[in-house]
Amino acid sequence: MISIKHSLISSLFAVLATCAANGEIVNISSPSSSLLLDAEKGKSLKFLYYGKKLIDNDITVIATTAAKTDFYPVYGLGNSCKTALAATMPDGNMTLDIAVDTVVTDGAVTSIRMSDKVYPLDVDIRFRTFPDCDIIETWTEIRNNTRKDVVLREFASAHLPIPYGDVYLSSLYGTWANEARLEERPLPHGVVEIYNTDGVRNSQSSHAEVMFSLDGAPAEEHGRVIGAALCYSGNYKLKIDTDESDFHHFFAGINEDNSAYTLAPGETFVTPELAITYSTDGKGGVSRSFHNWARKHKLANGEKDRKILLNSWEGVYFDINETGMAGMMRDIADMGGELFVMDDGWFGSRYPRDNDTTSLGDWVVNTRKLPNGIGGLIREAEKNGIEFGIWIEPEMTNFRSELFEKHPEYIVRADKREIIPGRGGSQVALDLGNPKVQDLVFEVFDTLMTRYPEIDYIKWDANTALLNRGSQYLDKDKQSHLFIDYHRGFKTVMERIRAKYPDVTIQACASGGGRANYGVLPWFDEFWVSDNTDALQRIYLQWGTSHFFPALAMGAHISAAPNHQTGRVIPLKFRIDVAMSGRLGMEIQPKDMTESEKEQCRRAISDYKRIRDIVQHGNLYRLQSPYDNKGVASLMYVSDNRDKAVLFWYKTDTFAGQKLPATILAGLDPNKSYKITELNPIDIVPLTIDGTILSGSTLMSNGLTLPKEHNNAEDYHIPYASRVLLLEEHTSAY
Ligand code: GLA
Repeated sequence: MISIKHSLISSLFAVLATCAANGEIVNISSPSSSLLLDAEKGKSLKFLYYGKKLIDNDITVIATTAAKTDFYPVYGLGNSCKTALAATMPDGNMTLDIAVDTVVTDGAVTSIRMSDKVYPLDVDIRFRTFPDCDIIETWTEIRNNTRKDVVLREFASAHLPIPYGDVYLSSLYGTWANEARLEERPLPHGVVEIYNTDGVRNSQSSHAEVMFSLDGAPAEEHGRVIGAALCYSGNYKLKIDTDESDFHHFFAGINEDNSAYTLAPGETFVTPELAITYSTDGKGGVSRSFHNWARKHKLANGEKDRKILLNSWEGVYFDINETGMAGMMRDIADMGGELFVMDDGWFGSRYPRDNDTTSLGDWVVNTRKLPNGIGGLIREAEKNGIEFGIWIEPEMTNFRSELFEKHPEYIVRADKREIIPGRGGSQVALDLGNPKVQDLVFEVFDTLMTRYPEIDYIKWDANTALLNRGSQYLDKDKQSHLFIDYHRGFKTVMERIRAKYPDVTIQACASGGGRANYGVLPWFDEFWVSDNTDALQRIYLQWGTSHFFPALAMGAHISAAPNHQTGRVIPLKFRIDVAMSGRLGMEIQPKDMTESEKEQCRRAISDYKRIRDIVQHGNLYRLQSPYDNKGVASLMYVSDNRDKAVLFWYKTDTFAGQKLPATILAGLDPNKSYKITELNPIDIVPLTIDGTILSGSTLMSNGLTLPKEHNNAEDYHIPYASRVLLLEEHTSAY
């Protein structure tokens, strides 16, 4: 007889009452998906189904008819496929043989305990569900109950089997200034591995989030898609093995390469969570589920508005001084901004931070540059009616710093080896596995905030990999713990900071977009998408990033022309329109702008305030992909009750005689009518549709055909046309 256990409390009692089991079917459900497992006691845990939510009768049928496979395959006996867990027992036995022991549901968490049949080793697979989100978080806890060390050689968070089929993988890859490039390809036979070994910044190259489109080539708004995001700040590995079985085996977890972990007697190894989601509404459905979960449960202060800011970096780089900062504060306040962030270059006493070769670690204000200190700047911000924020990089030091001179033992370095420096030829990471370093890093933050409680925003940077793969703190036989312990230390520090300072906004920056990961975001309000602020390339950067992360987490800044990274000259209108589709900010020297440019930004900031709620808290629909090379990219955000939406439309390519496809909108209510208003207009003759009213139905079938040029004198015939259209429900009779 089969019993069924549901994870949602609403259905728990009804179903548990009918339980009587040899075979126990565990049904982990989100509001619209079901994950079905066969947890028969004494047997290995089997995967049955993950997909659209099932009714009880279907569960019973699937339980008896589905192709089964191990849900958490372990190394050792009876199978030759890739595995989730491998461990060496104290006596040298390298095999495992685990079987289900108990299934327990405690609130929103269901735990399935498996125990080794011979050795006292427990493996708990846990699942967390949310009544308001279509996400299931799953992770694994491995407990060593033997009297000696057990060495973990593999320790995946989860294994999700995907029935063999026409499955496409969407993933993100990249490099500095070109992060989050979208790659979509059919799953090949054999193994695909996506991994990170940086040690600090785990999303600068590839990302720990993927989507699987189950019905052939990925589509935005239709087709079955599974999304998965590994929530971890450190080295990770995602592995998809399409072997001779009936499944594509997807494994996700900490990267075990050179990271064998010695589990002491009584110790439990807790893996990071893998968040999974399933949608029948294409990739768009998966993105919206991740965004919803992020805002409600994952991201720090996920339901709060983000402020419009000016960051000093591209405006002045290291050239920080009081007059310059005061000028920038006046300018951003004058344009309607709400926050000024002083970036790198403000600190270092014996070694002033004038470039990237010195001073990290010496978090004291340089009084030559700022005679009235941070307090003086805060007073200036207050005078201008804006908030003040500041840059720090507390995990790092330079050879030329007072910190390094005092505590050379704090840095990550391999014994007997020359130290390989990172940025500036002199930057090294502090060993966050060392509790003294954890205290030090916490104190950098705590001291600043205690002295200046008015600080509203911290930009927390991390600009170097763990290039020296050894620890001065760890014992010789624990050197392979370096990466894992670094991130445990990071977690400890961030949790301490958040316990004391829940409200301060913290940006995760790591050489640009190196820390866009849900393992980081519980402590950070947002991340810097990329050091690349070129508006055209930003369309691609933000497109890829939006697959998994909501707009309010994505720092997007208006910068100068020519752009500092690409040298491209892009009109201000286009730069503004691209930045407005994320968390709007500026990264520019306002005093180099003309009055009319400032006025344009002033209007844009005021318009952004009108749409902030829709962009930052609405539902994203990606419409036309820049990757499709049709000369246009577009996306829109729609409010929850579909009474308001904003369309962002960008021309991405230009040639004579060009024809652009119409833009078919999505996510609106077909039965509502919407008044269209162009924001940030620059044309002499307004758009013909400006001020018109169209039904949601027509907007989502016929769409809008937007002109490929602006008709203002100044920008006429420039290749960079863009539009931002506000759609508001129109209720009165017309
Ligand atoms: C990194 C960041 C930049 C800036 C500099 C400062 O590169 O990504 O935004 O803060 O550091 O040195």
